[in-house]
Amino acid sequence: MNRSRVFSGMRPTGQLHLGHLAGALTNWVKLQEDHDCFYGIVDWHALMSNYDDSEETRKLCMDVLLDWLSVGLSPEKSCIFIQSHVPQHAELFLALSMITPLGWLYRNPTYKEQIVNIRNKDLSTFAFLGYPVLMAADILLYRAEKVPVGEDQSAHMELSRELVRRFNHFFGEGLLPEPQTLLTPTPKVPGTDGRKMSKSYKNSLYISESAESMWEKLRTMITDPSREKRRDPGDPGKCPVWDIHKVFNPDESERAEIDNGCRTAGIGCIDCKKMLNTHIAEMMEPIHERRARYEKDAGLLNDILVEGARRAEAVARATMRDIYPSMGLLARADRVS
Ligand code: TRP
Repeated sequence: MNRSRVFSGMRPTGQLHLGHLAGALTNWVKLQEDHDCFYGIVDWHALMSNYDDSEETRKLCMDVLLDWLSVGLSPEKSCIFIQSHVPQHAELFLALSMITPLGWLYRNPTYKEQIVNIRNKDLSTFAFLGYPVLMAADILLYRAEKVPVGEDQSAHMELSRELVRRFNHFFGEGLLPEPQTLLTPTPKVPGTDGRKMSKSYKNSLYISESAESMWEKLRTMITDPSREKRRDPGDPGKCPVWDIHKVFNPDESERAEIDNGCRTAGIGCIDCKKMLNTHIAEMMEPIHERRARYEKDAGLLNDILVEGARRAEAVARATMRDIYPSMGLLARADRVS
């Protein structure tokens, strides 16, 4: 069976929330059924913006691993590993940097946006400018054909493809394949304050959140602001709780009832939130059970990471073996391959 190769990665910068679940992880879990998936916890990428807190990164890698395993990413089906455990990521990053024009990096819209908007950190570093080059290396090291990412990564993906064309032009046509973006539809998952769910807004519903804490957040979440009293009719189109219903409530007829009940003041916001809470709790139950099992087995978590790195490195080494001579580097004489 010839499954196509998939690569994707996440930076270990915090606990994962329902936005990550709906926008990426659910799709990653599906992909592992019929693709050859590589999923990397990209810790070098996290250091590019959080180099002043390296202790955090170590801990956050394990948090992301637990979140991934709990939602059903399987170390039997996918290769799950930590980027820095496979040194070839850094090697290919260096190799690609030989042919990366600085103009491409300075013109990258994500870079331009972040350098003005992220004011609390000094991001005027060589590495931060080169962020998309390391991302290209992640993908190309595994000759991944498909990369599931959200719209916000499109510019980086385009740069990866341009780098492949330039690399092949210099060092050999067909040496590296051009990766395709598998654009994941990112459903709107607002946070408790109605803004986009994000760790930095402190408005997130976390995957690892207990049922009690989840309900407390939902219960106090903002709704349609014009619905002040129970008898005021509401507009679901202006309610962030309704946006979450659309993503996490699979019961269509119940959703129709809520929509109608809100517009006619037939139900109150608490009734609506209770129904949402029931669906989320049901979905989270197996996730939390799986988490509890992994959480108490540090040995197993380490085995998963060691085995993941071993498998990833075998593929990565083979890619580098093709690249070195093509770039004109002299092979080390004591290495047959
Ligand atoms: N840049 C991605 C993000 O911020 C993370 C990432 C790093 C990635 N390397 C990757 C995603 C390779 C896909 C493929 O979400």
